[in-house]
Order: sequence, then C-alpha cells, then structure tokens
Amino acid sequence: MNEKELLTLGIETSCDETSVAVVRGGREILSNVISSQIEIHKVFGGVVPEIASRHHLDNMNPVIAEALETAGVTFADIDVVGVTKGPGLVGALLIGIASAKAIAYASKKPLVGVHHIHGHICANYLAHPQLEPPFLALVVSGGHTNLIDVKSYDEYEVLGGTRDDAVGEAFDKVARVLGLGYPGGPNVDKLAREGNPAAIPFKRVYLEKDSLDFSFSGIKTAVINYIHTQEQKKEAINPADVAASFQMAVMDVIVDKSIYAARQTGNHKIVMAGGVAANSMLREKMEQAAKNNNMELYYPPLILCTDNAAMIACAAHYRYKAGEVSGLDLDAYPGLKI
Ligand code: KG4
Ligand code: ZN
Repeated sequence: MNEKELLTLGIETSCDETSVAVVRGGREILSNVISSQIEIHKVFGGVVPEIASRHHLDNMNPVIAEALETAGVTFADIDVVGVTKGPGLVGALLIGIASAKAIAYASKKPLVGVHHIHGHICANYLAHPQLEPPFLALVVSGGHTNLIDVKSYDEYEVLGGTRDDAVGEAFDKVARVLGLGYPGGPNVDKLAREGNPAAIPFKRVYLEKDSLDFSFSGIKTAVINYIHTQEQKKEAINPADVAASFQMAVMDVIVDKSIYAARQTGNHKIVMAGGVAANSMLREKMEQAAKNNNMELYYPPLILCTDNAAMIACAAHYRYKAGEVSGLDLDAYPGLKI
C-alpha cells in the first residue's frame, strides 16, 4: 500500500464531541464530522460525564455514516481504524473504542488506539502539509498544559506540565466567576478584546528558575479574590478588564516558557495545539515572540484546535506506520500519560 493512499478512519469521543473522520495519507482530510454536545451541557455549566456517554451512543452511527458518505468511501476502502484510547471520560471513551473495535473486527482492518494529546499535536500535520518533526509543541487544552519536545513522528519528550489546573480549566473557571458560562475559553477571549490587559496586575507565576512547569490555580484564586474585594469595597468591576488582565498574565508566562523551551532544546519551530491554541491573544503574542526570536510558528485553524477525529486519524496513521497495532482487547485509559 502506497503510504500516500492509506485511508484512516478516526473516532474521537473523549469528552463532549462525537467525531468521525476519514484522512488520506495521514495529511489530507476527506471528511471530519463533529457533533458537539455544547448546547446540552451548557445548562449544567460543564460536561456531565454520564449524559455525554449517552449522547455519544445516540450520535455514533449517524456520525460514522456521514463521515463515510462525505469522504465518498465505504468500510471496505478503509485501511486503518484509529480511536482515542485516553485520556478522557471513561464512559465517553468506551463508546468510541467499542465502535472502532466493531468496525475493525467486521471489516478485518487493523485497530490503532491513540493518545488524545498526540492527536492534538497531529492536527498541525493536517493544517500544514510541509510540517515535519522535530519541533517544540505547546499543548494547551482543557485537561493539559505541556511543553513537549517532538523529536520524530513517534518520539515525544515531555519537558514540563502544569502542577495543578490546566490552562483551559483556568479559563473555564474564570468565565464562571465572570458569569460568562460554558465553554469559558471562547467567551473570555471575546470579552478580553474589549478590555485593558494592563488594568489589573495579576501575578505571573514562573515557579523555580529554569522550570518548564506551570501553575494556574493561583491566578484563578487571584481573580476570584479581586472580584470579591471590589464587591466588598462596593467598587465597580469591569469584566472586560478582568478577562483581558487574566489572559495577559497567563499568556505572558506561556509564551516566555515556550520560547525558553525551544531554545533549550535547539528547536526553531514551535507548534501550538489544543483548544486554548484558538485563543486570539495567545496567537498574537506567540507570533510576535517567534518573530523576535527567528522561530517559525505553526498552529491549526480553529476547527482543528478543539476536539475532532481528523487529528486522531492522523495520529493513528503515524502510529500504524511505526508498526503499532492494538488488539481487540484495547481498553480506555482515562488518565493516560503522554
Ligand atoms: O482541546 P479541547 O477541545 O479539549 C480538551 O482536550 O480538553 O480544549 C477545550 C478547552 C476548554 O477549556 C475551552 O475553554 C478552551 O479549550 N478554549 C479556549 C478557546 N477556545 C477553546 N480557551 C481560550 N481561548 C479560546 N479562544
Ligand atoms: Zn482535546
């Protein structure tokens, strides 16, 4: 089989998106159907795991059918079946895994379980067909904040990560205290555009000198304290200034550490991945920093930043090429390490 013709079906159900995609040669998206449950979970202010699983179950068959139809292929044309094996919500992951196993077994095709975060990084291979490792990856999502030295398609070294909250989690919590609702990140991003990022000097948390780790629980508390203090003093709060100042404090640290990590590892390419890579301030600041340091910057379009199955198909393609195939006893790993 010519590698460029290899067709991979990808399935992603780790959180609240039911997504199925068909990718050719690891790089070309033939279909990428994403059924979001945002409207369903919005009323609860966050994802309710049991409800997410039930909806995955309802959505799975129609989403698979649409992905095949849009790509103009049938199960018989698929060469590899890729699926997210973790991390994520266990009940949600299991729906995707059971579906992928059934397809692989019935059509006698290899099954490849992939790490959700490898998928996020791989979204960049779809968006930038010329991009090749090595590079420094900054993964910023709802569950992860990591700096990773991507040495090859299947060699990843984690350089640092968050010691408490993930950055997306901090966005979601700040959105909640500002009354912006779920999902918080895009709402904070939007509101921040109308605010002054220098209005409130929230502390930048760098941890020990040279550390590539992060901590975001402090800033979340600082935002809550600021709001309470203003309320006690009966002074007005400008939510746009709070959003902009919070965002700037977080992004200053993320950008500085990314550039530092790239220098330390001798990488001149920085690749951003995950839901928070959709953030407009992060994109602007990182563009500027990369330019100032003669580095190349890559990030996916918005639709490939957040959860989708095309990125999972791409990751499965490269895992398969590296000789990795999962058995039909593949399990879900809610806390899977990178
Ligand atoms: O990667 P993702 O879709 O799911 C996980 O694997 O976690 O990331 C979701 C996270 C949420 O916390 C969401 O609030 C955040 O990404 N997010 C953003 C933006 N768009 C999504 N955060 C900041 N600015 C955005 N524009
Ligand atoms: Zn994700």
